[in-house]
Amino acid sequence: MYEDRREPQIVFIERFVHGGYGIGKLPGGKLVLVEGGYPSELVKITITQERNDVAFGKVVEILEPAKFRTVPRCKYFGTCGGCHLMDIDYNTQLELKREIIQDQLRRITKVETEVKDTIPSDLEYGYRSKMEFAFGFKNGKVLLGLKRRNSNEVVGINECPISPNSFNKALAAVPEIVETTKVKIYNPMRRTGTLKHLVLRFSHSHNQTMAIFVTKMETFREARDIRTLLLRKVPQINSIIHVMNSSDTVVLRGPYKTLYGSGVLEVEMDYEKFQIPPTAFFQINHHITNKMIEHVVKELELEGNEVVLDLYAGIGTFTIRLAMLSKFVTAVENSHISVKAGRANANINSLRNVKFEEADVEEFLKSFDGFVDIVVLDPPRTGAGKTVCQKLLELKPRKIAYISCDPATLARDLAILKEHYEIESVQPFDMFPQTYHVETVVLLKRRG
Ligand SMILES: C[S@@+](CC[C@H](N)C(=O)[O-])C[C@H]1O[C@@H](n2cnc3c(N)ncnc32)[C@H](O)[C@@H]1O
Repeated sequence: MYEDRREPQIVFIERFVHGGYGIGKLPGGKLVLVEGGYPSELVKITITQERNDVAFGKVVEILEPAKFRTVPRCKYFGTCGGCHLMDIDYNTQLELKREIIQDQLRRITKVETEVKDTIPSDLEYGYRSKMEFAFGFKNGKVLLGLKRRNSNEVVGINECPISPNSFNKALAAVPEIVETTKVKIYNPMRRTGTLKHLVLRFSHSHNQTMAIFVTKMETFREARDIRTLLLRKVPQINSIIHVMNSSDTVVLRGPYKTLYGSGVLEVEMDYEKFQIPPTAFFQINHHITNKMIEHVVKELELEGNEVVLDLYAGIGTFTIRLAMLSKFVTAVENSHISVKAGRANANINSLRNVKFEEADVEEFLKSFDGFVDIVVLDPPRTGAGKTVCQKLLELKPRKIAYISCDPATLARDLAILKEHYEIESVQPFDMFPQTYHVETVVLLKRRG
């Protein structure tokens, strides 16, 4: 029977899948991925996109809500695209994330393996150690906030419950400061203007806040005035940085100047200390990162004589602890700033058994023919990919710890590694409460 898809459709949501969609079936049986619907719910949706194999939809009315729904704590939830699961209770968030990973492993890796319960975050709110806020301009007013989901439109916000207090103080104060100094907001459509982003970074161990102003060009004449006003209004800020970044796709990269303070963030975990430069990657949930590092070294059962390769090492988040417990660690990372910080972090922790290689992982592995007992890898969302995974099969480490922030690329890479490796454990960590994102640590052991 012909169904007019322009009319709202009624759908029963069966499961929750990667990308934060509830999945159900349209009349006729076609699968539909629904934004805003949770398992067990009956919802009315509009179709936003229809392809041959699958359709996408958005909830317009919840006819039978799930029992685990709650009232979201944030007034911008649903408008701002930062959070996706704030309208369901925390235990259900943890379980849905576990199910997302299970589903990816079943469908893509084609393995039936236990996925452990998601390790919760100590903080369900206020946990973020970094937020990238965008500037916008509407009706003569400066906006500072996050982008709407699947859009480039900036939603101005003056508080963000997943951010620490100092970020909220800055969110409330900065638009007015920027208006006072009359700095032009960057318009990505016309490619005109100066100021693009305010990135805020926080150290939960040292209570330090870094404010990073990202401009399109080098010229930022208003910087001094902004610095003076910001320090007056938000005294919690310890460092102010100016980053010059001509890219319209990546927020935080490029040369920088320190306008105030030491210009690095200090972070201390249970056993190690880090200094993090403004543009370097660092995990965004302090307590979960600490737990993840300890989980990785525990699962690897290090005895002190292992030779370890730490790929996509960043500023040494895993490298430092691995070096404390093994014979030698080679850390591979392609960001110059992170490698410099990684070397400094090895010194700060008095470690001599670490070598940082500034290289692309794929290029490094092409010419690497040394012996390794253990490989730890923590690639970006795109995953390690086929070439890197095949090289790992040739290197034959005894154990591999794969840390991933994307269940789909993780599942794809595990499908290659499973040729010679057994999946020993799959442990999700709730790095990003209130969102559908999840961090996973998989331990693999070589067969035979
Ligand atoms: C998810 S982060 C992990 C960093 C670190 N392991 C941590 O936990 O903080 C991925 C890191 O890989 C680096 N990276 C991305 N692509 C790379 C490549 N092709 N070769 C080497 N490093 C890369 C990034 O600069 C980033 O530091």
